[in-house]
Amino acid sequence: MVELFDWIVQRVSYDAERDFYAKHFPSVAALHNRPYFRPMTRHDLNAIVAIEQQIYDFPWSKNTFWDCLKISSYSCWVYEQGEEVIAYGILSIAAGESHVMNVCVSPTVQRQGYGLKMMNRLIDVAGGHHVETMLLEVRPSNEPALNLYRNMGFNEIGTRKDYYPAKNGREDALILALDMFVPQHPQKEDEEQLGAD
Ligand SMILES: CC(C)(COP(=O)(O)OP(=O)(O)OC[C@H]1O[C@@H](n2cnc3c(N)ncnc32)[C@H](O)[C@@H]1OP(=O)(O)O)[C@@H](O)C(=O)NCCC(=O)NCCS
Repeated sequence: MVELFDWIVQRVSYDAERDFYAKHFPSVAALHNRPYFRPMTRHDLNAIVAIEQQIYDFPWSKNTFWDCLKISSYSCWVYEQGEEVIAYGILSIAAGESHVMNVCVSPTVQRQGYGLKMMNRLIDVAGGHHVETMLLEVRPSNEPALNLYRNMGFNEIGTRKDYYPAKNGREDALILALDMFVPQHPQKEDEEQLGAD
């Protein structure tokens, strides 16, 4: 209850502050509209599930995201712009390894660099936990994601048979790995292009 009250107070005071800056300092107000990276909370889950349902044939449920938030070895993040979640990513981190469980960009802002930006942030989070290898699964048919990961330095290390549900049964997953000690993922140009957080 106290948490809900704090959240309402934060939102109301943020709106008042934003209106003030929009009126008197439009250039500062523009800064407010910059996307920023922050931890996911349960208040984001409706927005996240709405994106998930637009994107995937087999979307994660709200309960699945809620479970991720409750597991201490999971690290759940969003990009927010103008109070709207535009991207989210979930990592599990354990024993020197990190696994990308989900990464997704809202269809309205895809192909604008946010997927790369989110992945770079997840790599930073994993690096902060001294992770040596980052792993993920991807459908072989998912060309945008495969391009993204390969360009970042992820390498294919195997397949998981029948890993994903598919319209015609099951689909294999490619397993990709990033050696965290090889600094090859593009980052700086991306940060500059989209502005600091
Ligand atoms: C994959 C995804 C996260 C990429 O995010 P994005 O913000 O659209 O991608 P970016 O603008 O950051 O693009 C980065 C790179 O990804 C690749 N890429 C992204 N979209 C692509 C597309 N439609 N076709 C081909 N390559 C694409 C390119 O290599 C691109 O680099 P470039 O622009 O220099 O060519 C996004 O398409 C998405 O959310 N897809 C649905 C969910 C999903 O499949 N998640 C991954 C599950 S494993």
